[in-house]
Amino acid sequence: MKHIFREGQNEKTLLLLHGTGGNEEDLLPLADMIDPEANILSVRGNVNENGMNRFFRRVAEGVFDEEDLIKRTKELNDFLDEKSQEYGFDRDQVYAVGYSNGANIAGSLLYHYQDTLKGAMLFHPMVPRRGIHLPNHSNLNVFIGAGKNDPICPASEAEELKTSLEKSGISVDLHWTNMGHQLTRDEVEAAKDWYLNL
Ligand code: MLT
Repeated sequence: MKHIFREGQNEKTLLLLHGTGGNEEDLLPLADMIDPEANILSVRGNVNENGMNRFFRRVAEGVFDEEDLIKRTKELNDFLDEKSQEYGFDRDQVYAVGYSNGANIAGSLLYHYQDTLKGAMLFHPMVPRRGIHLPNHSNLNVFIGAGKNDPICPASEAEELKTSLEKSGISVDLHWTNMGHQLTRDEVEAAKDWYLNL
C-alpha cells in the first residue's frame, strides 16, 4: 500500500487513515497535534472510486461491499505486520487515527482482529458490519468523534458502534459536536486530551 513512514522518538505509532477522496498527506497535521513524538504510518487506500481513494468499495453511500471490506481489512492488517518488521516499530503500540472511510476501516480492524490496535481515534465512523461476533478485546481504548448533525454518519451509528465495541471489552469515549461530517479542531483537541490521559 502507498504510504508515508516517519520515525518518531517514542514507542507509539499513529496509523493515519484518510477519508474518501483523500490521501496519505491529509492527516499528518493531526498526528503532529496529537503526538508529535510518535512514529507515523500514513496509508493511502487502495480502492479507486471515480478518482477518489478509499480503503474499501461501497455499493452506495453508506452501503459497504462486505466482501471487499473483509479482504481490504486483512490487507491492512497484513500490511501492519509487514511494515512493523521492515521499519522496526512496536506492533503492539499502534493507534489508529481515522476519518470517515478511514475510521470505518479502522473500526473494521477491531471487528475482525485481536491485538491489531492498541487504541483508535475514530472521527465520524459508521458501524462497519452487523451480525458478526467481535473478538474479545481487553486493555484497548477507543475515542469516537461524532457530529450530531452528520448526514453521512448519523448519530445513531456512533451510539451503535460504541455499544458494539463496549460489548467486546473496549473502553469507549464518545465525543459529540453539533457539527456535520466535517472534522473539527475541537474534536481533534478532545482526542488529544483523551490520548494523553491513557
Ligand atoms: C464510507 O463509505 O466509508 C462512509 O460512507 C463514509 C465516507 O463517505 O467515506
